[in-house]
Amino acid sequence: MNVKINTILAIDTSCDDTSAAVVQENRVLSNVISSQVEEHKEWGGVVPGLARKLHEERIDEVVAMALDKSGKSLQEVDAVAVTKGPGLAIALEVGIKKAKELAIRFGIPLIPVDHMEGHLFSPLIGIEDFNEKFPALGVLVSGGHTELIKVERVGDYELLGETLDDAIGEAFDKVAKILGLGYPGGPAVAKLAEGGDEGSFDFPISMKNTGDMNVSYSGLKTAVLYKVRELKGENSVQNRSNQASWEEGIKPERAFEADGLDRQTIADICASFQVAAVETLMNKIKHAAKLYDFKSILLGGGVAQNKLLQGELKKLAHSRNIELLIPGNGKFFMDNAAMIGFAGWLEQFKSSPNILETDEQINSLDRDPGLRITSK
Ligand code: KG4
Ligand code: ZN
Repeated sequence: MNVKINTILAIDTSCDDTSAAVVQENRVLSNVISSQVEEHKEWGGVVPGLARKLHEERIDEVVAMALDKSGKSLQEVDAVAVTKGPGLAIALEVGIKKAKELAIRFGIPLIPVDHMEGHLFSPLIGIEDFNEKFPALGVLVSGGHTELIKVERVGDYELLGETLDDAIGEAFDKVAKILGLGYPGGPAVAKLAEGGDEGSFDFPISMKNTGDMNVSYSGLKTAVLYKVRELKGENSVQNRSNQASWEEGIKPERAFEADGLDRQTIADICASFQVAAVETLMNKIKHAAKLYDFKSILLGGGVAQNKLLQGELKKLAHSRNIELLIPGNGKFFMDNAAMIGFAGWLEQFKSSPNILETDEQINSLDRDPGLRITSK
């Protein structure tokens, strides 16, 4: 390994978090995340124009904080890494503009990073012998992606399967919306599911017998919606007294489909939905684990925090003698620049690394909102 780049300043503005980090080889020196969740919450989802404006307002301060916390100055940084996609085009542009500016001003290379490669390798942060973990099965589960990827080595990937419609996190968010649990809905649905009975409702497990490794979540979401409407029809006397017992942080919004259903029924829907959502994915993961001899499973993305999914993966890993790797201490599940810095550092180990050195190369970098992981 001919490592030239050791210390990297990384930037991620792919969605609604403004993040900057400093990594040194596979270690994270700092990781600053300025979340916009509160600002987008009242709109029920991410508003691209607002995301851009907030990234622009915060980027300088977030970069300065990341450098400060790492104890490194820009003169000590060997390269800048930045998310080029996938993500919201006008949000990505903010990080890319800042990264270009810094790389040119300090005369250092710019490494464009695929955000999904960041999530994919986030469980390997801090692991010295990461090359020993391949071939690996990458399980990428977020609000925008559900992908199963065969990783032969850094830079050599095969997309085994993906969602044909909604991402798994999107399904959690949409169900949360139907149930009036706010945005982002995954954590609220998972929390309520703890007090629910997963056997209450029999929601469909899509694409069970298709023989491939693709999944689909739009049918499950629709089944939840129809079940809620059916239950409301049966339950025409609205039981508002239940609302007093909602926990802080999981309070229903004013207008939502499930308004009138009691809290226990909503918890039962959450538990039954969660079990179906996880089983849908697990069927395909089990299929992949049968077909290939994986040494490890790399679990990445926001939905990787789901305890039921983690539990099912642990069981599978144990039974097939595969190592399950999840992002360290729960820190790198959600969007963050540390994983972008680490993926940027890994770039130099690929057979043909994409590292931009001249001002002309750096200036020509454009965002790629629809970027997809393929063999590189
Ligand atoms: O990776 P991420 O931070 O952002 C991108 O989509 O790139 O993932 C966010 C997604 C949201 O859909 C959120 O609802 C979901 O992760 N999520 C969860 C849980 N925590 C977050 N879904 C299920 N169970 C959870 N505990
Ligand atoms: Zn992400």
